[in-house]
Amino acid sequence: MRIWPFTSLVLLVSASTVVCGTSLEGELSVSLRDNFLEPLRSLFRQREASNVLAKFSLRRPSLPDDDVCYIVPGKEETLGNCNFNSTAKTFLVIHGWTVSGLFESWVAKMVAALYDREKDANVIVVDWLDMAQNHYIVAAENTQKVGQEVGHFIDWIEEATNIPLEKVHLIGYSLGAHVAGFAGSHTTNKVGRITGLDPAGPDFEGAHAHRRLSPDDARFVDVLHTYSRGTLGLSIGIEQPIGHVDIYPNGGSYQPGCNLRGALEKIAHFGLVAMNEAIKCEHERSVHLFIDSLLNGEELSKTYSCASSDMFERGMCLRCHRNRCNTMGYDIKKVRKARSVKMFTKTRATMPFRVHHYQLKIHFTAQTDQTQTEPTLTASLYGTSGSVENLQLKGDDKITTNKTHSYLLVTEENIGDLLMLKLKVEDSSSWSVSSLLSKAQSWWNGDTTGSEPQVKKIRIWIGETQKKLIFCLKDHQKSRTSHEATFVKCKETWRKASRRAH
Ligand SMILES: *[C@@H]1O[C@H](CO)[C@@H](O)[C@H](O)[C@H]1NC(C)=O
Ligand SMILES: *[C@@H]1O[C@H](CO)[C@@H](O)[C@H](O)[C@H]1NC(C)=O
Repeated sequence: MRIWPFTSLVLLVSASTVVCGTSLEGELSVSLRDNFLEPLRSLFRQREASNVLAKFSLRRPSLPDDDVCYIVPGKEETLGNCNFNSTAKTFLVIHGWTVSGLFESWVAKMVAALYDREKDANVIVVDWLDMAQNHYIVAAENTQKVGQEVGHFIDWIEEATNIPLEKVHLIGYSLGAHVAGFAGSHTTNKVGRITGLDPAGPDFEGAHAHRRLSPDDARFVDVLHTYSRGTLGLSIGIEQPIGHVDIYPNGGSYQPGCNLRGALEKIAHFGLVAMNEAIKCEHERSVHLFIDSLLNGEELSKTYSCASSDMFERGMCLRCHRNRCNTMGYDIKKVRKARSVKMFTKTRATMPFRVHHYQLKIHFTAQTDQTQTEPTLTASLYGTSGSVENLQLKGDDKITTNKTHSYLLVTEENIGDLLMLKLKVEDSSSWSVSSLLSKAQSWWNGDTTGSEPQVKKIRIWIGETQKKLIFCLKDHQKSRTSHEATFVKCKETWRKASRRAH
């Protein structure tokens, strides 16, 4: 059912890189839509004109894909007819902008995952397809009206059934996140939670809190940002933090497995289809991360608060003291602070998305200044239940002597307790092969002239276990010609390490 879901957004992006102005975007998207979608639209859905802005379909666990029973505000009998359980949790799943006028396939997956976790829950899909199937700008404007309607619906349900609104959780994707925000701001009492899944950026970025999803809209608002990257000031997902807790998986952009960079190169050959798929992949990743948290509650992704994505990428934010860590998705700790908390995590390319985070702190010492050295370092980790090899250490590109460098390493598997670590000096463009060899000889021990950097210890902090380890160069390595050095747990570091940790 994934039919050109992002055509107009794509065109908005590409149009803005060429000229500023929405008319080109408008024209192109109209012509594309007319060409590709008109036949589909009449084929799949013949909508009667009506004043209904949103419909509320209580889905069944056995039929997560089908609309079998609608709850109609004002008609109390529909609650009973649909088996609404007034003591259970209630979820409202709110879709985003649509070109096809159809539910995307993630909706049924979300419904099924919610029922998987909360057997007795009422999972209601909010159908605002008619209002969402418009030019993006029009659909974006409609979020306010639709949100208001959803708010009235919640007020009515509260009145009719006495459900505590603490048990109501709105989950909105893209434009649907702002619908949830408007809904939350229109209810008489506050709903318990709103989760914004990559809330839409265009038209909402920088807008006043009353004109977008904001922390005021529910007792707790958590947001996942998976496509927050500006192209000339336009980001598909909103970049700014807009909840109590805002999580930016993989920095909030370039999600693993989506390969947008590859798509941008292919675009010349394959047209917009390649780009369309990649954008959708990143934007919709937010949904799948949330579904993952429902289905794989044992393997929750840990998130770390950090001042910037750059610092996180250097492994500097893996400490959990003072509430600095949380989990991603359904089981998030509801931390409410005056200002939004920005959190980061890395993920795998597929479900389950969780990875294990390591900070490596490496101190390079040398007698003389070695700032010109720019080798590529890779590390291999060997643990009690697995190993990972040749992970590149990304960080400052220059290695400065007498300075501690910090790197982030992630492993997809749990390798158990870390036993051994290998560090390798790879080729580097600035080095000739012969000079590389001569440097590598003395790299680890540095005892020839004292002019080459040396590494004696590597300090490691593991985010998932909150453990600190110190690894030492394995006793006087004999093979001087090797590009690789082995590090093992330092003798007697145990006591020192724990003393120094405080
Ligand atoms: C309604 O939900 C509650 C849990 O909140 C559960 O104990 C009860 O069995 C449910 N009732 C029905 C009829 O499913
Ligand atoms: C680095 O530190 C060592 C010992 O602390 C010192 O002997 C050496 O001169 C320093 N090197 C540089 C380049 O500052």
